[in-house]
Amino acid sequence: MNKHYYITTPIYYINDVPHIGHAYTTIAADIMARFKRICEYDVFFLTGTDEHGQKVEKAAQMQGIHPRELADRTVHRFIDLWNTLNISNTGFIRTTEERHRKVVQHIFEKAFERGDIYLGSYEDWYCVPCESYFTELQLKNGVHCPDCHRPTEKLKEESYFFKLSNYEDRLLKLLERQNDFILPEIRFNEVASFIKGGLRDLSVSRTSFTWGIPVSMNTNHVVYVWFDALANYISGIGFLEDDDLFNTFWPCDAHLIGKDILRFHAVYWPSFLISVGIPVPKHIFAHGWWTIEGQKMSKSLGNVIDPNEIVEQYGVDEFRFFLFREVPFGLDGDFSKNAILHRVNGDLANDFGNLVSRSATMIGKFQKGKIGEPEKKGGTDEYVEAQIRSLTDRYCKDMEVFSYYKALQHIFEITSTLNKYIDTEAPWKLAKENDPRVKTVLYNLWNGIRIAAMLIYPFMPKKSQSIWNAIGVRKPIENIHFDEERVFYHTDNIAEIGKVAPIFPRIEG
Ligand code: MSP
Repeated sequence: MNKHYYITTPIYYINDVPHIGHAYTTIAADIMARFKRICEYDVFFLTGTDEHGQKVEKAAQMQGIHPRELADRTVHRFIDLWNTLNISNTGFIRTTEERHRKVVQHIFEKAFERGDIYLGSYEDWYCVPCESYFTELQLKNGVHCPDCHRPTEKLKEESYFFKLSNYEDRLLKLLERQNDFILPEIRFNEVASFIKGGLRDLSVSRTSFTWGIPVSMNTNHVVYVWFDALANYISGIGFLEDDDLFNTFWPCDAHLIGKDILRFHAVYWPSFLISVGIPVPKHIFAHGWWTIEGQKMSKSLGNVIDPNEIVEQYGVDEFRFFLFREVPFGLDGDFSKNAILHRVNGDLANDFGNLVSRSATMIGKFQKGKIGEPEKKGGTDEYVEAQIRSLTDRYCKDMEVFSYYKALQHIFEITSTLNKYIDTEAPWKLAKENDPRVKTVLYNLWNGIRIAAMLIYPFMPKKSQSIWNAIGVRKPIENIHFDEERVFYHTDNIAEIGKVAPIFPRIEG
């Protein structure tokens, strides 16, 4: 295999309980990883946990344990959830690992040697939950954090600074050269105007707490959590440790993140990389945020959605599917149980599920469960074949640029074309009249379903396999070679086809 693809999720704060927002980014990355694998890329898919910082230190203190112990206890919440959601990550990085510490200290030292990091002192308004400083002008009502709206406190500390102010031009040139560096476009514009507004040097060390990676040349300081966290994208893929691995996959193809952490990824991260002479990533894709039944999700409102609960009620693949069918990836969306119910019963049970059961039953009844290649064509046969081909092409183009919503629309256009095809061609009539076209119509239905299942595989890895099983395809769907199998197909070695139990049973509200 000589095509490579590297995709990442943010690393999640260890002190949080995983919620729908974390699941969203991770499933999005999993969808791309699976898509690229069936397109024959060798994929490295990295996720992990962000385990340092004052928040973790405080949470551990409250429980009377060492922060390391807190991290060890809670990391499993994430690992377990990723197993439940069928996430196919190939790497998992914890910022408390030794391999990560070495990388963070190394790039800090290198940036220092290059003259991009210097020692100074800092006085400003600090928000503990966001681990960020703000100027007085940025505060809400003179005291509150502009991001989370909680009260900030005035802090003065000695600090190392990164000369971000030196990077304005280089970043703007980068945006010019790589005009798809930040996706979608509205996020690109947001970053460009932020940079044009002027960049202040960035404080990259702290002395007010100790739970972090020590600055090697001055151990009174720990490295700022964001400098530490961003480096996961290289420490998790063998930087300093496994040159082959690192050189194969870096620069990263896509960092998937939420819109709230765009500045860290699109401004700070490339500046750190440029400073130490490492190429910048190819794309950063920032998605929108989920509200819950119209409200911001928050612990205090008690409306935080636990993905484990949703999955128990609606199913893993149904949840994965819903997140990307409901809202264009990149925009904000609203989550409600009613909306899931509507999607599962409408798109899945009525459209896709019915199509599979009707077709399988007809193949059982009219062809003794066998599928044969078409001989005689007529009616809307050619139109349906062309339509499937063109929708498959459009699906591929949209998948490439994370337009999951459109990609799913194309799949459902295939299923609705096939449902209409059944109605217009009425295979039961053709069978009654002994018309050989019945073989063509049933082949086209079978082939259309086979392709639609392949297209939905990255979103629904298990259910797509159930669909293949229902239509007698005897192989693991995850091993497909998409390019070879998307149109033509050998019909030998197909198991007998007949009536099947519903693949997407209707869910009662
Ligand atoms: N630890 C940092 C990331 C460091 S990456 C070098 C962090 N962690 S986080 O756990 O708070 O958030 C991780 C991701 O979850 C972010 O991409 C964020 O956008 C996403 N979400 C958190 N709440 C969300 C919603 N309500 N909706 C969608 N995504 C949201 O930030």
